[in-house]
Order: sequence, then C-alpha cells, then structure tokens
Amino acid sequence: MKITSRELRQKFLDFWRTKNHQIIASAPVVPENDPTVLFNTAGMQPLVPYLLGQEHPAGTRLADCQKCVRTVDLEEVGDDSHLSFFEMLGNWSLNDYFKKESIAWSWEFLTAPEWLNISPTKLAVTVFAGDNDAPRDDESADLWSQCGVPPHRIAYLGKKNNWWGPAGQTGPCGPDTEIFYWVGEGEPSLESNPGSDEDNWLEIWNNVFMGYLKNEKGEYLKAPRHNVDTGMGLERIVTVLNGVNTIYATDVFAEMIAKLEELAGQKF
Ligand code: ALA
Repeated sequence: MKITSRELRQKFLDFWRTKNHQIIASAPVVPENDPTVLFNTAGMQPLVPYLLGQEHPAGTRLADCQKCVRTVDLEEVGDDSHLSFFEMLGNWSLNDYFKKESIAWSWEFLTAPEWLNISPTKLAVTVFAGDNDAPRDDESADLWSQCGVPPHRIAYLGKKNNWWGPAGQTGPCGPDTEIFYWVGEGEPSLESNPGSDEDNWLEIWNNVFMGYLKNEKGEYLKAPRHNVDTGMGLERIVTVLNGVNTIYATDVFAEMIAKLEELAGQKF
C-alpha cells in the first residue's frame, strides 16, 4: 500500500473515532507539569494525571498523535528504524475498556481491508511472561489466539521487553503486548517469532495494560484503575506499509533528502 504519513495519521484517528474515542491534540515535547522527565517520551506522559484518576475533559476514550523525544535508545538512532524525535499514535482507555477490546481493535485496525489490510502472516506478538511482581499474561495470549494469531507467533518475554512504565521513577505501569511486523527475507518460517528471531521482526505497536503503580520503594502495587495506553510509531508503520526498508525512504524524510540532494548537487 502506498500511504503518506499524513494519510496514515488521519486513518488512525478516524478509526478510533469509530470506536467512540475523542481526538486530543499533541502536547508540546517539553512537559508542562512533569518534574520527572525533560521531554515527553511517550504519548502517555502528558496523560499521567488522568491515568492516575483525574477526570479528563474529553472523556474516558482518547486518541492522538504525540510528538516525542526519546533518548533511551540513542545508540540505535541512525539505523533503519530508530529516531530520537518521532510521532507516536496512541489510544487510551481511562478506566474504560481493557484487554479484550484493545487487542481486538488493534488487530482490526491492522488487518481489516478497509483499514491497513496487513496480511496476518506478516504479524507476530509478544506477551508478558510473568515474574514475582505480576503473573504471566495468559489472557492477552488467549485474546490474540481468538484474533487468529497462531501459537508459534506468540512469544512470552520478561519485564525488559513486555512491561512498560512508569515514565519516570514512579507511577502507572503494567504488562504490555507488542505487535511486530515481518521484515525478513521471504516468508517467516514456522518457528520464527520476535522471541526466537528478533532481528527479522520490527515492533510496530505496543498495548500497555496499566493495572499497576510503582512506588518509591520500587514495589509494583495493583492499581485501583485499569487503563490502556498504546503507542505506534508513525514513521515505522509508514515504512512497513510502503514496503521500504528504512524510515528515511518514507515521505517523512525522503522529500527533504531529495531537496538536499538537489541543492547540494549530489546524491547522499
Ligand atoms: N507507552 C507505551 C510505549 O511508549 C505505549 O511504548
């Protein structure tokens, strides 16, 4: 599919409108009221007060495209898929729907012919394997199975991969389930998934089930609320949909690079 970043952004927001979400504007990259971080690193960051229970004026179902600056993976910036500044598409449930709807709707947006129409054979997922702080997320794995994801495309990974947050030292967090797109040669083999073959699968979307709060002692406590926080990198999804192998070949950068080449009189 040929799609521009502008078209994709619009499509994502239109999809969430059909699920009764209100579209909110991106917050500035420099947080207005958050002493825990220098920049907004994820779409959830400006929403922390609402994830903690403050009423959001737009309601309990929100979607947006948040400008982010992320430096934790600075060493990887410059490869084909990591950026320090990027836009994150996200949908939120503020103590409204939870895993069932979130997973089913993510799958619908990615695979339904009227939305992104991605072949399910190109997709795989990871879910939280469980540890002393929280149990294995069998519910998410079951929900993926109900969408039609075969067992060999579901990998169970630990906190490093399948737990998100808090954004600073303390606050809302929880197990997550990530969706990956096949970027290897040909078709993925039967055994291949993001746990066994990580170089050939690119993460495109993360669904975080924020049912926990991390406190100052480093303990993970069950939260009284169940929130959903999702994040999909705009530049990455545009890359895979257009069948190119680097974010620099998308309209986000390609037009700028072409102009620079023209001005410089040479190809980069
Ligand atoms: N907050 C989650 C992330 O940034 C969605 O991956």
